Amino acid sequence: MNLAGKTALVTGASRGIGAACARVLAARGAAVAVNYFKGREAAEGVVAQIAAAGGRAVALPGDVRDAAEVQALAAETVRQLGPIDILVLNAGPSVPWKPVTELTQAEFEAKVLDEARSFFLPAEAVMGSMIERRRGCIIGISSGLSRYPAYGFSAHTTSKSAVDGLMKSLAFELGPYGIRVNTVAPGLTRTDATAHMPEAQVQAIAGMTPLRRVGEADDVAGLVAALADDATAFVSGAYIPVSGGIQMP
Ligand SMILES: NC(=O)c1ccc[n+]([C@@H]2O[C@H](COP(=O)([O-])OP(=O)(O)OC[C@H]3O[C@@H](n4cnc5c(N)ncnc54)[C@H](OP(=O)(O)O)[C@@H]3O)[C@@H](O)[C@H]2O)c1
Repeated sequence: MNLAGKTALVTGASRGIGAACARVLAARGAAVAVNYFKGREAAEGVVAQIAAAGGRAVALPGDVRDAAEVQALAAETVRQLGPIDILVLNAGPSVPWKPVTELTQAEFEAKVLDEARSFFLPAEAVMGSMIERRRGCIIGISSGLSRYPAYGFSAHTTSKSAVDGLMKSLAFELGPYGIRVNTVAPGLTRTDATAHMPEAQVQAIAGMTPLRRVGEADDVAGLVAALADDATAFVSGAYIPVSGGIQMP
């Protein structure tokens, strides 16, 4: 229970990696705001799982691309659970797969701007209070594709590279206030977002991975919980893959 007494806000926590992060942070003692966009029932399910395990959580709506909704989400988190100590920037727009020769300007701009907003707005909403309190931990869920491009993922590689840059800038400028900022870069992870992939393709990637499997949401959540822990108090500005070794930046 190393996170006892702390409050965490996890964006996009109704499913997948965000839900796993919410469960693990709560299991370590944090009170957790489980943000959702469209999946209210799923988010309430995550809250129920956390409560059944003896933890404390609330489900809160909010589109992370919308400044007013994000401000309301942060304010409601504080009202119900207390000042935010841990922010997990997990929610991001879906990944458009298209060869770069076919990608339109509109598709490219929508992905890059939505991803950047999804990270900037929640960080903006919590940083004032973190600065005042001289403490805080911000963890961004990027992607291994931010450094290792793959065919058809140009918009995703660009948008995740952009948020990597934002995370480094936050680490640099907020560090003097005792705020740690780190980036977690999952490789292929089994969630709804990747459920469409043919199993043969998943197995091919597993076969090229030194640990001979692909990731699960709990693999990512384990690193997020470690980075939220004071045991990693001197880790900031890091970019850490969770990829079984297939990506070694
Ligand atoms: N899965 C992978 O292989 C993989 C690899 C590298 C990086 N990542 C990154 O990991 C993060 C989570 O991915 P995932 O695979 O867990 O996705 P997922 O299973 O599809 O879940 C997406 C989550 O994000 C929420 N969300 C979507 N748009 C939102 C918005 N505008 N405002 C608030 N919440 C929103 C969804 O909420 P609702 O359901 O409530 O709408 C849902 O909880 C993303 O940033 C993704 O790029 C994933």
